[in-house]
This record gives sequence, C-alpha cells and structure tokens, in this order.
Amino acid sequence: MTPAPSPRGTGWLPALVAGVILSIGLIVVGLQSSGTSASLWRPSAAASGGGDAVPASMVTLPAEATEDFGRRLIAQTAELLGPDQADPQKRYINSRLNCGSCHLGTGTDPGTLHLFETDAHYPRFSGRAGQMTDIEDRINECMQRSMNGKPLPMDSVEMMAMAAYLRGLGRQWDAMPASARKATEPPAFKMPDRRADVDAGGEVYQRRCATCHGKDGLGLLATEDKGKGYLFPPVWGPDSFNTGAGMHRVLTAARFIKARMPLGEATLSDDEAFDVAAYINAQSRPTMIGQEKDYPDLTTKPVDNAYGPYADEFPLEQHRLGPFKPIEAHYKALKDAKAKTK
Ligand code: HEC
Ligand code: HEC
Repeated sequence: MTPAPSPRGTGWLPALVAGVILSIGLIVVGLQSSGTSASLWRPSAAASGGGDAVPASMVTLPAEATEDFGRRLIAQTAELLGPDQADPQKRYINSRLNCGSCHLGTGTDPGTLHLFETDAHYPRFSGRAGQMTDIEDRINECMQRSMNGKPLPMDSVEMMAMAAYLRGLGRQWDAMPASARKATEPPAFKMPDRRADVDAGGEVYQRRCATCHGKDGLGLLATEDKGKGYLFPPVWGPDSFNTGAGMHRVLTAARFIKARMPLGEATLSDDEAFDVAAYINAQSRPTMIGQEKDYPDLTTKPVDNAYGPYADEFPLEQHRLGPFKPIEAHYKALKDAKAKTK
C-alpha cells in the first residue's frame, strides 16, 4: 500500500481541520455560556463511604469553579495541567493530551465517549477500582491513565470545575430533544472472531491515520510551543496515554476508532479498526505504575485488558490481540457453573 502523500508541512489539511475544530469549538462555547449556572459539588462516593453524600444543595462552589472553567480544562488540559504549565503545583499530567482528544467536542459530540450521560452513571461500582465511585473518582481515573498523570485533590478548583461542567452536561442532555441526542456514526464496531493482525494494522495506519497523527505516531503540535499541546494528538510515545488507559485495550480502541476516526471521515471496516487499534497499542507508551493491582476481583477484568495478572490460563498475547471469543466463553462457563451451585 502506498501511503497517501503527506499534507503535513504543506499546511492545508491541518489548517482546514483546525478551522472545522475551531468552529465546532466556538459553537460549543456559545452553547455552554448561555446555559451555565452555579452547579454543586458533592463529595466522592468512595470518600464518603458510598452513597451517603452531602445533599448538593448544602454545598457551595468556590466562585472560580465554574462550568466554563471546567470546559476549558477539558479542552486545553495539556496547556492548563500539563508538564509545561508555569506553576509546578498545577502540573498534574505527564501526557500532552486534552480530555477532549478522546471526548470529542469536550464531551458534547453525541456518540462514542460523549459525556452527556456521565452524571446519570454515578455513583456506581467500579470493577477496576473494586469499590463505589463518583464522577470525581472517574475523572481521576482518566487523569492517572488516559492523561498519564496524578489525581486532582477532591477539593481543588480544577476538580470541582470539571465535575460541575459534567453535571451541567447532564442537565443539558435531559433538556435535549431526541433528534439532538442522535449520534451520526457508522454502525457500532463488531469484534472479528480472530487474532488482530498488527502488520495489516500498520498498513491501515500509514494509509488512513499518518497524515494527521504522523508516520511516527507522535502527533503534530499546535504551535512550536509544546506547552500549547497538539493539534493532532500523539497515539503512542511519551506524550500519549499510558498502559492503564481504556484506550490501551484493543476492543475499546477499536470501538472508538471505528466510530470516530479518521476524524471527519470515519469509514473503516471492523477488520481495519481492529487491526489498526492493535497496531497503535503494540507501540511503546508510558507504563502505569501499580496497574497489576487493578480489578481486585480478577474475574471481572475485561478480556482485552492488556496486562496481567489474569484469573485464567490464556496467554498474555491472546488478551492483547484476541481471538477473544474463547476467553469470553471461558468466563461465561465459570459464571454459569457458579449460578448453578447457588
Ligand atoms: C486517551 C483517551 C481518553 C482521554 C484523553 C480521556 N479519556 Fe475519559 N474515558 C476514556 C475511555 C476509553 C473511557 C471509558 C468509556 C467506557 O467505560 O466505556 C472514559 C471514561 C470517562 C468518564 C466516564 C464516562 C461515563 O459516562 O461513565 C469520564 C467522566 C471521563 N472519561 C472524563 C475524562 C476527563 C475529565 C479527562 C481528562 C482529565 C479524560 N476523560 C481524558 C478515554 C479518555
Ligand atoms: C484528519 C485528521 C485525522 C485523521 C486522518 C485521523 N485522526 Fe485520530 N484524531 C484527530 C484529532 C484532531 C483528534 C483529537 C480530537 C480533538 O482534539 O477534537 C484525534 C484523536 C484520536 C485518538 C484519541 C487521542 C489519542 O491521541 O490517542 C485516537 C486513538 C485516534 N485519533 C486514532 C486515529 C486512527 C487509528 C486514525 C486512522 C484510522 C486516525 N486517528 C485518523 C485527527 C485525525
């Protein structure tokens, strides 16, 4: 396969895409600023022992913790919380991604990884954490994994602002007509029943992804100043998500890629999405410290979790690349047997 001639450097494609992104951004800003009212922060379910949180009406937010600041933190995370931030106290993340690199339109683009329904999902039990979690805990999971950083303190303005923004999205969602909630996405990813082919994925990558994310996967900076983050984010390497991130699981990545990538032209087949997800995740990226402690109950670990330990005898490579049906069948049989003995 000959890679398409790279428009990187000639300027037109990045400029065009930047224009589109910018105008979407402006519409989003417009939507947000018309609908922001002080929303209320509730302490984490885990921190408060699960469920018995202080009623929202009894907590007041600091004036700076606005929904608009929350939206900016999600759009410009690299700049505001990244390794080049001027205030060393605020350098919470080691990647140079934005939350919005995966949660498109700062979570307001209906479809895969949108954040409109997040408020309705919490508090809930997390198998990965092995305990009840609230929105704040979930934000910190993406901080430590997708953003390769450290958790935000629960009482920081940044945490309160992001949580307020997400709760505001929940209210917008409730008020939205069904037509506005609809995602314009290709049919959902269907897992091929085979081992992912990393080499075939490399070809898909060079043909369909490299023009934006770079032949080397390291992305394209927005300006010469690294501190401003990327126009096209890195899909591997030191500035990308770490091994503990959901995107590092081949099925999660394939679902996102099939639905959303190439940006503005998501036309990959299931096979292409599967193989290119495996290819990206076969490249080097930061390792999450302590990842082996995830999923205290190992039988709840997703079949495509890319690191051990596992509660089964399938080889590591099969957990990374598939085929996944035999692993799924194994756990289903265990569950059925357990149900029978009850
Ligand atoms: C590399 C991609 C990536 C980045 C960057 C990222 N996330 Fe996520 N996020 C995910 C994935 C994958 C999930 C899991 C979706 C699932 O469980 O199905 C997720 C889930 C979430 C959820 C739970 C959504 C729900 O409705 O349950 C929240 C909240 C969230 N992310 C917030 C953030 C915030 C805040 C940031 C930035 C600090 C961030 N994410 C950065 C990939 C990313
Ligand atoms: C036209 C440019 C373009 C093309 C082509 C493209 N992407 Fe992206 N991709 C983006 C942009 C821009 C974002 C971040 C979205 C945002 O900031 O709004 C992104 C985000 C991502 C992310 C999540 C963030 C990260 O860095 O990990 C992944 C994974 C990804 N793309 C994979 C792919 C794959 C695989 C292909 C090829 C099948 C592809 N992309 C093709 C522009 C592109």
